[in-house]
Amino acid sequence: MSSTARVYSRIVGVGSALPERLVTNAMLVAELGERGIETSDDWILARTGISQRYIASPEVTSSVLGARAARAALDYCGMAPDAIDLIIVATSTPDYVFPSTACLVQRDLGISGCPAFDVQAVCSGFVYALTVADALIANGSAKNALVIGAEVFSRILDWSDRGTCVLFGDGAGAVVLSASDRPGILASKLHADGRHEGLLRTAGNVSHGAIVGTPFLTMDGQAVFKLAVSMLDQVGRETVQAAGLTVADIDWLVPHQANIRILQATGRKLGVPAERVVVTVDQHANTSAASVPLALDTAVRDGRIREGHRVMLQGVGGGFTWGSVFVQF
Ligand code: UT7
Repeated sequence: MSSTARVYSRIVGVGSALPERLVTNAMLVAELGERGIETSDDWILARTGISQRYIASPEVTSSVLGARAARAALDYCGMAPDAIDLIIVATSTPDYVFPSTACLVQRDLGISGCPAFDVQAVCSGFVYALTVADALIANGSAKNALVIGAEVFSRILDWSDRGTCVLFGDGAGAVVLSASDRPGILASKLHADGRHEGLLRTAGNVSHGAIVGTPFLTMDGQAVFKLAVSMLDQVGRETVQAAGLTVADIDWLVPHQANIRILQATGRKLGVPAERVVVTVDQHANTSAASVPLALDTAVRDGRIREGHRVMLQGVGGGFTWGSVFVQF
């Protein structure tokens, strides 16, 4: 009888990229005011925790930001692009209908041959993509994967809807995930419930040369808020349990960065102290699939997340989709 050691996926590199244009609440309030849309810095800050966001200029797409984040993650671990044998990009704002944003990132990195594809799970996209990459590493199909979340949500916002346009920003985050015999991803759990598809969506498509439906994001904010907190609590517990651990073993909680009140409520419900919850929504606003890797990059680079720490990454969003990845650094 022979026993085979478990193959883990370890996060060995992190990186991120933000567009150049920083838009503070005050700047946004002034811009919207000129167009007759009434909002305030106080409202945005008090209801969401957002102070600023970055907005991409027209030539900056998800693949441009994704490739920049990928290069930063490769630099972090000193890996050459040609060592990468899998690229997955989580995005709901791809450059094109096709080819995938992942293929464009691959081209921009100057590599070819390895599989490259997009995952579309909106704000849960990064944890979905990480779970898929982990499975492909575990079954021996890949050794070094680039997993990227990249978005330009500013392109799908209705700038006359103050209930949504103040909430989102653009950006990208990436990790290099490598096969290892040392613990890395301990467990992950993904869920979806399409019955809630109407709560948060961009219900448009391109057909016969025209846009059909609504090309802008629409959201029932309060319904999304309530579902998000209960789903993140439930899936967080499920994931630590699948790892044979408890919530007390969570060193850092890195949830999707949608609203400070969701982050705080999730931490409280799960029993993770506020100082162990990584918050970047104030700096980046909601960057959908990019928010978790952007927050992760921040907390690794500023020295909070260190070797040996166990980190709970969580996504929730349109679909409805939600999920967690529990990973040891
Ligand atoms: O990434 C996917 C996940 N997305 C989320 O998790 C978003 C979840 N939802 C939320 O974060 C919150 O529900 C929002 C931030 C979207 C809204 O906060 P809220 O506390 O639920 O506010 P509300 O929708 O109940 O609106 C309260 C008031 C309304 O006015 P009235 O009816 O009380 O007179 C809105 O019209 O605030 C008004 N309002 C605004 N006022 C100033 C809505 N947007 C704005 C605004 N500025 N930008």
